[in-house]
Amino acid sequence: MSPAEVFQRLERITVNPPRLASLAVLLAALTLTACEEKAPDSIMTGEPISTDAAPLDRNLDPQQVARGHAVYTENCLECHGEAGKGQPGDWRIRDADGRYPPPPLDDSAHAWHHPTAVLLEAIRDGSPGGQGNMPAWRGKLTEQQMQDVVAYIKSLWSDEIYRLWWEMEQQSLED
Ligand code: HEC
Repeated sequence: MSPAEVFQRLERITVNPPRLASLAVLLAALTLTACEEKAPDSIMTGEPISTDAAPLDRNLDPQQVARGHAVYTENCLECHGEAGKGQPGDWRIRDADGRYPPPPLDDSAHAWHHPTAVLLEAIRDGSPGGQGNMPAWRGKLTEQQMQDVVAYIKSLWSDEIYRLWWEMEQQSLED
């Protein structure tokens, strides 16, 4: 996949209405779950509460996350900030050269909107056509190091965000 295709895919995944709709449904389900905590269905029916939310299976290998943290500290931290929090200022506003600042990679921006494969492509190939400040890491990091750093990035997301990401990841694997 060329960088342009990757970022087209990013766009498609970010704005594709059915996906957004399903995220909205999930968000609604999560909100409902939170509201119903005091009076769960199980009191009424004796059945376990069932929601449409995907099962939460973070399944992150702590050793891989630790390796990814080291890769991140050495190569990514200067731009994406401590714990992926990004830089001061708005990452959605282009700079004077028309380039976007490094976005946060924690759950405050949209890294979590992307399936693993798309995150890896973004890291491998950098900004599309070299038209941005994200370096391409192909040849500089091994495939294993890139996978490790993606595991670290995922470890920065809250359970709720991870759950939404997981649902989207399953959909992307079905495509
Ligand atoms: C020189 C600064 C710089 C460094 C170093 C850097 N990045 Fe980036 N990164 C950026 C910028 C700028 C963007 C936005 C790209 C664009 O809009 O063209 C970006 C985008 C990304 C994205 C896409 C995020 C999204 O929400 O779509 C990921 C993932 C990412 N970087 C991961 C990494 C990782 C992992 C490393 C370290 C191996 C790294 N970056 C190192 C500047 C940097």
